[in-house]
Amino acid sequence: MRFPPVIIRYDRIASTNTEAAEQARRGAPEGVCIVARAQTSGRGRQGRTWASPPDAGLYFSIILRPTVEERWWPLISLIGALAARDALRIVCSVEADIKWPNDLLINGKKICGVLAETVEAEGGRACVLGVGINLRSIGWPTELAASATSVEAETGAVPDGERLLQALINALDAWYALLHTETGPEAIRRAWEHRSSYAFGKRVRVAVEGRTVQGTTRGLEPTGALRLETESGEMLHLYSAEIMELRELETGGDPDSRRSDPG
Ligand code: BTN
Repeated sequence: MRFPPVIIRYDRIASTNTEAAEQARRGAPEGVCIVARAQTSGRGRQGRTWASPPDAGLYFSIILRPTVEERWWPLISLIGALAARDALRIVCSVEADIKWPNDLLINGKKICGVLAETVEAEGGRACVLGVGINLRSIGWPTELAASATSVEAETGAVPDGERLLQALINALDAWYALLHTETGPEAIRRAWEHRSSYAFGKRVRVAVEGRTVQGTTRGLEPTGALRLETESGEMLHLYSAEIMELRELETGGDPDSRRSDPG
């Protein structure tokens, strides 16, 4: 294994990402995993919250100390999505789509989110990779029902959270080891493109630097940025943004409407 995992478990914690970041700052090594049965202040991307009722999700964060060039670090969040997708396929037999950058969707509904954060830590800069997988649709805020799904809702069976956790760690380890090989970044980019219906030819709307633009996706840059060809023919490289499929906008759906109160 690239990292020997050390799993620290909590019944309840504010946020596994926050705890992992604190431990990283204090010098905890790569491979320390924080897992909780519930989070009281679960955090999502773009400053959103992540509703984390008891036993409704897998709430997981891992400390990574990558030794690859920093330009490849954005690929770590893509690895989080690839690994969670693998784990869901292997353990729960569900095939998820990847919405850029790292949301996992089933029939347009979100089943998993990934939050990668860098931490200025003792022993150098570290990365905390957080993954939230919806196991059961219980205890959620009502508005989530339209935009989110869970393993139980998709399969009719309550998933084995422990098996899912082990599969997630194994898959992460494999993708992370690949990242550290010479051809790894390119292989990861291709794997992501292959598994995402958002990679090529998807018409989306996105807010960039205070303006809203519409365009068509044209694959990923080597560093993981999304290429978006705007309607005026400009090619944008998106590193961090919220994209929305135009077809969903036209029909009034919003698979990411968790922004009011995510989970
Ligand atoms: C998103 O899609 O907005 C990202 C959600 C990430 C949620 C996970 S749950 C485990 C870890 N701890 C957190 O506070 N957030 C991440």
